[in-house]
Amino acid sequence: MNVKVIDHPLIQHKLSIMRNVNTGTKDFRELLEEISMLMAFEITRDLPLQEVEIKTPVTKCTCKMLAGKKLGIIPVLRAGLGMTNGFLKLIPNAKVGHIGLYRDPETLMPVEYYSKLPSDIAERDFIIIDPMLATGNSLIASIDILKNNGAQSIKLLCLVAAPEGIKLINEAHPDVDIYVASVDEKLNDHGYIVPGLGDAGDRLFGTK
Ligand code: URA
Repeated sequence: MNVKVIDHPLIQHKLSIMRNVNTGTKDFRELLEEISMLMAFEITRDLPLQEVEIKTPVTKCTCKMLAGKKLGIIPVLRAGLGMTNGFLKLIPNAKVGHIGLYRDPETLMPVEYYSKLPSDIAERDFIIIDPMLATGNSLIASIDILKNNGAQSIKLLCLVAAPEGIKLINEAHPDVDIYVASVDEKLNDHGYIVPGLGDAGDRLFGTK
């Protein structure tokens, strides 16, 4: 399966604080931003470099700078917003698209209510960000939306994932690599990740 667990000690430590039911909104939000920055570091490890001539105050030299396609990040509303700033701190020139989905109460399947994507989709590599990979349905729908609009290269960055959701995404989109900080035990009957960290959107925005 195309899953990479980013098990850096700083990420694991911060994630454990986020899981704690007693961690409040301010700390939760700050920790998610910090972890997103650390994960952005790892998910961009394979970005291609090119050699460029630079004149330092001392001499001329050949140095390395980023080459290749530009990046686009796609936070899935609303919890994905909590990962956006951390990401942009490292890659300030990334374009940011948004995808909003709600769950149809009858079919329980995701329905798109909003999407605004960068105009130069085919020229960018995309990273979809969403803290919780639970059933996988909304992330599959997000990948579908991006691909239908011409995206060629997509990665997925989540904080916590359920094995059930990873399996579904791998089956639907085997070309999409998934980066997570933790693969948890399972989904419960309400679609929450166990042990998880509860509702990421509510904890991020203090809406519960
Ligand atoms: N969404 C969340 O915010 N938490 C879960 O556990 C599952 C989906």
